[in-house]
Amino acid sequence: MGRKFFVGGNWKCNGTGEEVKKIVSMLNEGEVPSDDVVEVVVSPPFVFLPVVKSLLRSDFHVAAQNCWVRKGGAFTGEVSAEMLVNLGIPWVILGHSERRALLNESNEFVGDKVAYALSQGLKVIACVGETLEQRESGSTMAVVAAQTKAIAEQVSNWANVVLAYEPVWAIGTGKVATPAQAQEVHCELRKWLQGNAGAEVAATTRIIYGGSVNGANCKELAAKPDVDGFLVGGASLKPEFIDIIKSAT
Ligand code: G3H
Repeated sequence: MGRKFFVGGNWKCNGTGEEVKKIVSMLNEGEVPSDDVVEVVVSPPFVFLPVVKSLLRSDFHVAAQNCWVRKGGAFTGEVSAEMLVNLGIPWVILGHSERRALLNESNEFVGDKVAYALSQGLKVIACVGETLEQRESGSTMAVVAAQTKAIAEQVSNWANVVLAYEPVWAIGTGKVATPAQAQEVHCELRKWLQGNAGAEVAATTRIIYGGSVNGANCKELAAKPDVDGFLVGGASLKPEFIDIIKSAT
């Protein structure tokens, strides 16, 4: 079976109660291919997860943007994987570059989080990606391989993992990777998975692209053989998110 196209919408730290309801209405009215063809997951801030889950169409799903690295307890300000499971939230985004950079999340910490979230039954969108400086110094593959290795060292079953390649220089900048640049890294990541996690994992794991994806550039990116979908930031708050979902076909 082929890899089902995956489109995630990361709302980041955006939205009021009213705005969130408007985005959900826009999503609920959108005409998109069936969920046999495309898996759609939107990720509002924690506080809006219950309302979005309750109002969102049943063929779309929700993700948290983070969770704590182990069982909950005396960890002020954190939200545990168990709490997400308890609320019926199926997905979580982990290792986003904004958290790696702003909150000093290391490769190992992200690997620990991915393993713990999976152990509790969550599905994980695990993010990797290089900075502009790293790309310009020729270390893109070394960086994303090290980030992926820290996950692979703790995870043997990849069935519930989607790997998101998000070059930091393309996030929120309007400077999207070219389809060739995205394909090159996705293909290398798949080879890395083949060598380090096995042929089956490499063939079946979705590798999605994130970084300034919009309604105008998604089709060309989606046409690349190793681009299995998108993790969308800014454009996931707008009606063009529906066009991005449609790029699955
Ligand atoms: O998680 C999403 C990415 O950070 C991409 O954000 O589409 O606003 O560039 P962006």
